[in-house]
Amino acid sequence: MGLFVGQNVITLPSVDSTNEYLKAELSKSTPVVEGTVIMAVEQVAGRGQKGAVWHSEAGKNLTFSVLFNPVFLHPGNQFRLTVAISLALARWLESVLQHPVSIKWPNDSYVDGRKIAGILVENMLKGQTWKSAIVGIGINVNQTDFPVGAARRPCSIKQFLHRDSNIPELLSDLCNYLEQEYLALKSGGHEAQLAQYKQRLYRLGETHPFLIDGVQVTGILCGVTETGKLMIDFNGHVAAFDIKEVEFVF
Ligand code: BTN
Repeated sequence: MGLFVGQNVITLPSVDSTNEYLKAELSKSTPVVEGTVIMAVEQVAGRGQKGAVWHSEAGKNLTFSVLFNPVFLHPGNQFRLTVAISLALARWLESVLQHPVSIKWPNDSYVDGRKIAGILVENMLKGQTWKSAIVGIGINVNQTDFPVGAARRPCSIKQFLHRDSNIPELLSDLCNYLEQEYLALKSGGHEAQLAQYKQRLYRLGETHPFLIDGVQVTGILCGVTETGKLMIDFNGHVAAFDIKEVEFVF
């Protein structure tokens, strides 16, 4: 049983986006306790990375946001939180599926080359001080039909376990993993977490095409920088890209 993550879970039958809901709660005068979880049965305007829409069939999946106050991290080290959270999610998924889970840069969870979960971290800074981070997580649990059109079909926990899972039970278990990695980060565990993150990095050391400013270029995915940029080796010349600058080509 964790100490603070998921001690307070607010379940909403329907909401636009749990990240937006939590953001609105933070702007009110009543403080929100760190570790509070906002979970939605249905999200009608779920948001993904780079302005994408996060589709999730009502009642079938885990869609939730957690509040963290990582004031111990320098604002320049925001990627460290991403590393801790993606690692917690991948480790937890692996325990559920009993199957290897990799991290597709920067923070998607992949199983056998298909996406099973995504993370949207929104950092709230006040000047040079980090106030709080809204960590939104979407996991495909009991959904088995996915819209066609994605570059690669996503997958779900049910497709591996061949049975439905109890969503509140999964959430409670995952909260323990999130808390463990968050506390490890707080007590100086970033280097070890980064090493594990890199070990799990999807396509590390492989040659693949990437879209850079709309142009397709082939290179070797060779790592991430301290600030979370993706490093690609083009014939011995290594360049680093942020999330807006590069796309995977499948
Ligand atoms: C991505 O892979 O692009 C990130 C997906 C994040 C989805 C979750 S679902 C709960 C939370 N609320 C949102 O609107 N988005 C995140």
